[in-house]
Amino acid sequence: MSSPAAANITSVLKETRTFPPPADFAAKAHIKSQAEYEAMWQRAHDDPEGFWAEQAASLSWFKKWDKVHEWNEPFAKWFLGGKINVCYNCVDRHAEGARRNKPAILWEGEPGDTRVLTYADLHREVRKFANVLKDQGLKPGDRVTIYMPLIPEAAVAMLACARIGVTHSVIFGGFSDTAVADRNNDAQARMVITADGGWRRGKVVPLKHNVDAALDKSPTVEKCIVFNRCNQPVAMKAGRDLWWHELMATASEQCPAAELDSEHPLYILYTSGSTGKPKGVLHTTAGYLLGVSCTHRWVFDLREEDVFWCTADIGWVTGHSYSVYGPLCNGATTVMYEGAPDTPQKDRFWAIVEKYKVNTFYTAPTAIRAFLKWGNEWPQKRDLSSLRLLGTVGEPINPEAWMWYHEVIGGGRCPIVDTWWQTETGMILIAPLPGAIATKPGSATRPLPGVVADIVDKQGRSLPANQGGLLVIRKPWPAMLRTIFGDDERFKQQYWLQVPHVYFTADGSRRDDDGYFWIMGRVDDVLNVAGHRLSTMEVESALVHHPKVAEAAVVGKPDEIKGEGIACFVTLRAGNTPTEELKKELIQHVAKEIGALARPDEIRFTEALPKTRSGKIMRRLLRDIASGRQTTGDTTTLEDYSILAKLREEEE
Ligand code: WTA
Repeated sequence: MSSPAAANITSVLKETRTFPPPADFAAKAHIKSQAEYEAMWQRAHDDPEGFWAEQAASLSWFKKWDKVHEWNEPFAKWFLGGKINVCYNCVDRHAEGARRNKPAILWEGEPGDTRVLTYADLHREVRKFANVLKDQGLKPGDRVTIYMPLIPEAAVAMLACARIGVTHSVIFGGFSDTAVADRNNDAQARMVITADGGWRRGKVVPLKHNVDAALDKSPTVEKCIVFNRCNQPVAMKAGRDLWWHELMATASEQCPAAELDSEHPLYILYTSGSTGKPKGVLHTTAGYLLGVSCTHRWVFDLREEDVFWCTADIGWVTGHSYSVYGPLCNGATTVMYEGAPDTPQKDRFWAIVEKYKVNTFYTAPTAIRAFLKWGNEWPQKRDLSSLRLLGTVGEPINPEAWMWYHEVIGGGRCPIVDTWWQTETGMILIAPLPGAIATKPGSATRPLPGVVADIVDKQGRSLPANQGGLLVIRKPWPAMLRTIFGDDERFKQQYWLQVPHVYFTADGSRRDDDGYFWIMGRVDDVLNVAGHRLSTMEVESALVHHPKVAEAAVVGKPDEIKGEGIACFVTLRAGNTPTEELKKELIQHVAKEIGALARPDEIRFTEALPKTRSGKIMRRLLRDIASGRQTTGDTTTLEDYSILAKLREEEE
């Protein structure tokens, strides 16, 4: 394990500005003061079961639980014996009540087409689509892959699965056919739900085409349902492929929500770990729903009339928790936009904020840095006065981007919630409550009620203030992952055995004198490119897969917009010559194997890779080279000093 970059520590140490919650904001907030937050946190700390049981009264249960929590390290269960349905909580109870005609989803396609689905509309659609799934023979516990553009049907498909107890695995539309096939096979999915394509920067992403290639390699998949989004010609394989609209035309609207066990598996979401094989993070029903609904209410200080927009794609956990499950469980209005932020122009996001009068806007630092670079004229052309709260997620936000977001987008009046969490945590764990906690640019501030976070050394000993260490969570929380799908051993190994008896986040962090957390990024071999997690190993395996490549080492390097860029060091098999063409070919190859999000920024050919005597690639050195830093670290274990010099020469 490498140590967190020291440079990060010094850069954030300089940040001393604080922004207290505006008085009028605090006055109307759910949690109005630091004292109130502290009392709530202490109460949850002293009696977690009592605290979460109280919160769980906000959900609708078919049968109340018998026991709040069971901990059999590292396996957690929450609300044992309870019967509940996520779809019922997110749709039916609002559609059957006063929110019947309230917009659940305000959707805009990239070409400019729009749709509004009220809770009543959503209710009709999910019941019909749940019947479609049943008619195709799906049963509770079966797995279904969803590979769709960001259209309302993606949410309908997720909710319909949840309604009948089918476990969904949503795969981001930017992943390649190989990635889809790997995930289908790992989950043993019986069905894929997709679309002909989706719009991105004026072009159609050929989703069905990718699925066709994936299904050649996915023996467990029996059926494929295709939504017609773009009127693209697609091949429909008889007996396997079915049109969404044809099935829906005859589907019944009667479909009661299944009374599922609290621990019924809700979804699998694949994420990158420090080995090449993606991990299927498993989330279950009641605890997850409770976690995302509470945190959505607290952190975004939800009000009934809010228009809430989380810009994440549905293929990431942020889209699951804060575009779909959290907001809908709370009966909120959630905005979805299909396409790119610069299509047709660089003010598309701000045009959407203006048009729908968005109150809360939640995006990633990589997007904020891009906006900053595009210039102030784009947001300034638009009326952003509806905004009252801003959020960020996905990677540390640099104070400069934070200040720009605060001033130019928030007009200096909107608090910023910098939310730290992970696919595995299911819900936000560290973030300011905007009416209660003063913010500091670059800090995710303090753990939410019910969350016991700490900074420790490798033995698990708490470290004093201002000392960088490993971020761990000491106590289980309701929305935590339950395991890695099909691999309990890996779950233990990855999260519970590295530091004894605590959840290991693989992030480095420090805490300042006020107890604020400053996250410094990953300490394992995971890259964070534009807020998306990618394992260096996955990119390396893709490279080595190419017939001309002998060996590859992949490291992150600083990137102004994406946070981290991908640098690849490649040795070629004998008889191949390093050329610019080959570089391009390899870049294309990785994009094809994994998806465009993994496209390398840089390929460097080298005769050999620097290794320790035991044969481990010295990534620390490669990171220094890739980022143009002087190598200051210890090189005494380096097998061949000359390699380092050669790599440097190439740079010059
Ligand atoms: C990073 C995204 C700093 C972190 C919800 C974490 C952050 C990984 C923040 C999880 C933040 C996320 N400040 N770093 N506010 N939020 N991260 O699974 O390294 O895609 O471990 O979940 O992103 O990424 P994931």
